[in-house]
Amino acid sequence: MDLTGRVAVITGASSGIGLACAEHLARAGVAVVLGARRADRLDTAVRAIRDAGGRAEAVPTDVTAQADVDRLVARAGEAFGSLHIMVCNAGFGYYGTVEQTEPDVMARMMDVNFMGTFFGTRAALPVFRRQGHGHLLIVSSIVGRRGIAQMSGYGATKAAQVGFAESLRTEFAGTGIHISVVFPVSTETEFRDAMARDYGHSVTGLGPKQSVDHVARAMVACVRRPRPEVYPHRMSRALAVINAVAPAMADRLVARYGRRRQ
Ligand SMILES: NC(=O)c1ccc[n+]([C@@H]2O[C@H](COP(=O)([O-])OP(=O)(O)OC[C@H]3O[C@@H](n4cnc5c(N)ncnc54)[C@H](OP(=O)(O)O)[C@@H]3O)[C@@H](O)[C@H]2O)c1
Repeated sequence: MDLTGRVAVITGASSGIGLACAEHLARAGVAVVLGARRADRLDTAVRAIRDAGGRAEAVPTDVTAQADVDRLVARAGEAFGSLHIMVCNAGFGYYGTVEQTEPDVMARMMDVNFMGTFFGTRAALPVFRRQGHGHLLIVSSIVGRRGIAQMSGYGATKAAQVGFAESLRTEFAGTGIHISVVFPVSTETEFRDAMARDYGHSVTGLGPKQSVDHVARAMVACVRRPRPEVYPHRMSRALAVINAVAPAMADRLVARYGRRRQ
């Protein structure tokens, strides 16, 4: 599908997967509206996209505030006349046992990772319904498909996104409205820096890794040809299958591919 003239909103677009996704979509001819809290980062990204010939706008956004997310999504219509693609990507992680995970950290993680997705979806769906088409992409994690040790809180927020998306997919099956879930494995982004900045510790992924460009390319391919699920690291799909048919075997397998606290 030719994406020229399409319009996308991307949350968490100030760094990592969201920024790469915005850049790749813009290169494919999509007008992009970038949302995140760090306005300076968004401005730099918008300038770079415009300098490269793309169309971009920035809206400082905290995805835990519904009014912010509504404003972000409305900007797509104001600036570019429509909305075709909504990418709910903003998120952060926490590593630790359940006892180490303070309730306020858990609540915050649910607010950003899940409620941010809920608000983004809630803002975009009325537009999609009106026009009879649209594509919602939700960035979960392979950890949302198959949990790993000491990321139970994070895994719960990522699994919540999956349950939400599967239900929506059923509602919109056979229509022009597509719902896709993206399941990245460990990706080199600011994810670990954000954890260190906000919680004083970070993690190292022990399993396979991929680049943000690799994830972004897989996402753009999914926008061109909508699919329910995107596993940018192809082999990770096998983990989802093994977990469904032989969960005890998956327990042993993921013990080798966990994360290490730093
Ligand atoms: N990196 C990995 O290994 C990995 C693997 C699987 C899945 N993921 C998922 O990929 C997504 C993107 O993460 P990343 O790896 O690209 O990390 P990242 O570089 O830290 O990016 C996270 C983005 O989310 C934004 N964000 C955080 N809290 C926000 C809030 N309250 N409101 C608005 N934006 C907020 C951040 O921007 P501001 O700080 O400027 O607000 C940033 O743009 C997340 O959902 C994460 O769970 C990551």
